[in-house]
Amino acid sequence: MQISGSIFPFFLLAFILISGASSAHNNDFLECLTLQFQKSNSDSDSIYTPQNASYSSVLQSSIRNLRPASNSGQKPVVIITPENESQIQAAIYCSKKHGIQLKVRSGGHDYEGLSYISQTPFFIVDMRNLRSISIDTEKKTAWVQTGATLGELYYTIAAKSKTLAFTAGVCPTVGVGGHFSGGGYGMMSRKHGIAADHIIDAKVIDVNGRILDRKSMGEDLFWAIRGGGGTSFGIVVAFKIELIVIPQTVTVFNVTRTLEQNATQLVHRWQYVADKIDENLLLRLFIRSFTSSRNGKRTVGAFFTSLYLGPVDDLLPIMQEKFPELGLVKEDCTEMPWIESTLFFSGFQGESLDVLLNRTQVSTTYSKAKSDYVRKPISEYGLKNIWKFLIEEDENGAELQFSPYGGRINDFSESEIPFPHRSGNIFMIHYGVGWEDNAEFQRHINWIRRLFNFLARYVSKSPRAAYFNYRDLDIGMNNIKGNTSYTQASVWGFKYFNNNFRRLVHVKNKVDPSNFFRNEQSVPPVSLW
Ligand SMILES: Cc1cc2nc3c(=O)[nH]c(=O)nc-3n(C[C@H](O)[C@H](O)[C@H](O)COP(=O)(O)OP(=O)(O)OC[C@H]3O[C@@H](n4cnc5c(N)ncnc54)[C@H](O)[C@@H]3O)c2cc1C
Ligand SMILES: *[C@@H]1O[C@H](CO)[C@@H](O)[C@H](O)[C@H]1NC(C)=O
Ligand SMILES: *[C@@H]1O[C@H](CO)[C@@H](O)[C@H](O)[C@H]1NC(C)=O
Ligand SMILES: *[C@@H]1O[C@H](CO)[C@@H](O)[C@H](O)[C@H]1NC(C)=O
Ligand SMILES: *[C@@H]1O[C@H](CO)[C@@H](O)[C@H](O)[C@H]1NC(C)=O
Ligand SMILES: *[C@@H]1O[C@H](CO)[C@@H](O)[C@H](O)[C@H]1NC(C)=O
Ligand SMILES: *[C@@H]1O[C@H](CO)[C@@H](O)[C@H](O)[C@H]1NC(C)=O
Repeated sequence: MQISGSIFPFFLLAFILISGASSAHNNDFLECLTLQFQKSNSDSDSIYTPQNASYSSVLQSSIRNLRPASNSGQKPVVIITPENESQIQAAIYCSKKHGIQLKVRSGGHDYEGLSYISQTPFFIVDMRNLRSISIDTEKKTAWVQTGATLGELYYTIAAKSKTLAFTAGVCPTVGVGGHFSGGGYGMMSRKHGIAADHIIDAKVIDVNGRILDRKSMGEDLFWAIRGGGGTSFGIVVAFKIELIVIPQTVTVFNVTRTLEQNATQLVHRWQYVADKIDENLLLRLFIRSFTSSRNGKRTVGAFFTSLYLGPVDDLLPIMQEKFPELGLVKEDCTEMPWIESTLFFSGFQGESLDVLLNRTQVSTTYSKAKSDYVRKPISEYGLKNIWKFLIEEDENGAELQFSPYGGRINDFSESEIPFPHRSGNIFMIHYGVGWEDNAEFQRHINWIRRLFNFLARYVSKSPRAAYFNYRDLDIGMNNIKGNTSYTQASVWGFKYFNNNFRRLVHVKNKVDPSNFFRNEQSVPPVSLW
């Protein structure tokens, strides 16, 4: 694709417009919104300004990570919580007219807070009220509005059927809007792929306020929103998904092995097993350092947190044949219906299913995360060096997750949807560090960056791939002042999407050439590489 010269002056203009925005601008914007709402017979019940008593609680409600907001100077001029499409159309219209940036938030779980912070004057379209879920058990499909959470989706499916489910992430408060449009890996991904693999239709509002479905948006745009992130292309109001069929009984276990229990050898061995074993089985690994209660010394624990889609008696022979070293026994395992397993994996075991509907979160931690893909097993020596980093960081402050790939994930070509991480990947690494005392913010950030730099030798290269839903503003960051985000985009774009990034730029150019829908890491409408 060529650099389009004619687009540039518009960007400059938009920039001047935005940076020149003042409170007068904000008032004009608010007036515009109120007027447009009136035109569509809406009152102002879904418009929150800083003057409204509940502005702060609405803003905070879905913020999971305290770090992004603590670093940003700006608060949203307005938050709207639309009840229908016409209010979203009004928001787009007024945003364009007054140059106030639009950010859309579904579950608010973005790792860098891009759905609710900005460096320029902005407002939030919060999708919380658009969260209806309608399920067709005959056709095994569902329409899900993007403001729904994964917990609400799982709960609603399970209430209708014992043998239907959906393949998506573990945390029940993650939003459908960000999660599905960015991929969506979960405990059934080796058997059923990721959430975006199962999207069969969508309802999107474009830059001109048009409401589009799969047919009217065309296959290019429909392709882009299944893993390329919603942000860059429009506001996704709903997705239609195909549900998956599950057995009535599944088996879960979570066994711990410390260094003294050969954790290093087991994690090493796991790399030869996890992506190849029966695809009904997903052996996820969480790795943390803690003080052993036996000898008072810091050790590393590997938690093999796993789901098998079937009864324990089918699981044990598979483990005995493929991974006997782990020494899994029947007593480690619990059989349950799938919906109970969603509670187990999110730490709510034993609670009532209603917790899946609870959207309230209490966040007291700051965190930073990063991701990588591993294509060749890491040696035992390498693993031991990684453990040193874990032991160095505050106890329980840091965690690595190793999420196995293989199985159904590999049945799709790299370009089927924008999510490109298919055949050849053994597992994905999620690096996480959290803290409560923000005075030490820099120490923790430095720690995770050092660990990430150290891992370079063990992970995918050219590009060093990353998972879009584990958003990381470090990638593509350029220290040279004045370098635009467009050059940076050529760095993160290929890491998140590999060659699919080219097609994403092409789609963006077609559907939103003026770059109305944007954030700090959105697909640019032109390529500059
Ligand atoms: C605790 C926790 C657990 C997680 N677990 C998993 C996991 O198991 N598997 C996994 O794959 N990922 C997981 N993630 C990552 C998660 O998938 C992403 O953070 C995802 O983008 C969150 O979606 P959201 O709607 O909650 O976030 P938001 O912050 O609301 O949105 C994320 C991005 O999508 C955009 N967006 C949101 N809604 C829309 C919309 N309707 N239309 C257009 N654009 C939209 C936003 O503007 C923003 O850029 C987890 C994250 C957290 C914090
Ligand atoms: C949109 O929702 C508002 C608030 O519920 C309602 O007053 C209005 O009539 C709705 N508009 C349309 C077009 O449905
Ligand atoms: C916010 O305040 C304005 C002005 O008082 C009012 O019209 C509007 O309804 C309030 N919004 C909410 C959500 O209460
Ligand atoms: C660890 O591995 C060694 C050598 O393979 C073995 O002898 C020992 O029993 C193992 N320890 C545990 C706790 O499994
Ligand atoms: C697995 O066990 C570890 C160690 O006890 C614990 O921290 C973790 O929360 C458990 N995970 C699940 C999903 O139960
Ligand atoms: C919802 O979760 C929050 C945070 O964990 C908790 O404080 C609250 O009591 C829960 N609400 C209900 C109704 O269970
Ligand atoms: C901006 O960054 C890109 C990519 O890192 C680099 O190639 C380019 O030279 C930089 N431009 C300027 C003006 O520094």
